[in-house]
Amino acid sequence: MRSLLITIDGPAGAGKTTVSRALAKRLSYTYVDTGALYRGIALAARDAGIDPDEETNLENLFKTIALTCTKTPAGPRLSLNGVDISDKIRTPEIAMAASHISAKPVVRRYLLTLQRRLGKDKGVIFEGRDMGTVVFPDADVKFFLVADLKTRAARRFVELGHKTEALSLERVKKEMKIRDENDSTRSIAPLKAAQDAVVIDSTALDVHEVVELMISHIR
Ligand code: C5P
Repeated sequence: MRSLLITIDGPAGAGKTTVSRALAKRLSYTYVDTGALYRGIALAARDAGIDPDEETNLENLFKTIALTCTKTPAGPRLSLNGVDISDKIRTPEIAMAASHISAKPVVRRYLLTLQRRLGKDKGVIFEGRDMGTVVFPDADVKFFLVADLKTRAARRFVELGHKTEALSLERVKKEMKIRDENDSTRSIAPLKAAQDAVVIDSTALDVHEVVELMISHIR
């Protein structure tokens, strides 16, 4: 099979990263988790102590930071100024902050360039919210992965459970709903399925079943 550029978009917790990792392994591709890039900027803004609602603050921040995404067979690693932040960005606070800054045009412009640079090679899966609609409208294959909110929250809760204190399933569900609303209603690059995307509902499917469905569409 020739090397393709594949996009997987969808709401929080739909299983995009898990599925991307499994599909990449199956096809011997690499994958890029673009949500991590938004989280990385949220972390950089927090560490710099700037108000992200001021556009010039973000513009100045971009002049001073180096956000680097390295594709490795085990998955992408993200570094901020040479320090690996792949694990540090996995908190509910950074997720909410990422959702907030992701509506800023200056942030989306900055990451559009970075993401397209990473997409120069084929044989790669990009997962996020606007991969098939805005970043790679000419992608070879596009998927839109959904699942009901209850299922998505339960999956994320299990994923985060041992890492954070004071975390409840209700909180995960509530914050996921807020993020979905923010992401779907923002005026720039909102979360939505591309017209030519294959929509897959993973509510009742396991990772293996989703990957098999994807493979059959890719073929
Ligand atoms: O995928 P993840 O939940 O890590 O993404 C964190 C946040 O980054 C999302 O809630 C969304 O606001 C933003 N995001 C985005 N566009 C993408 C990927 C993520 O706006 N392509």
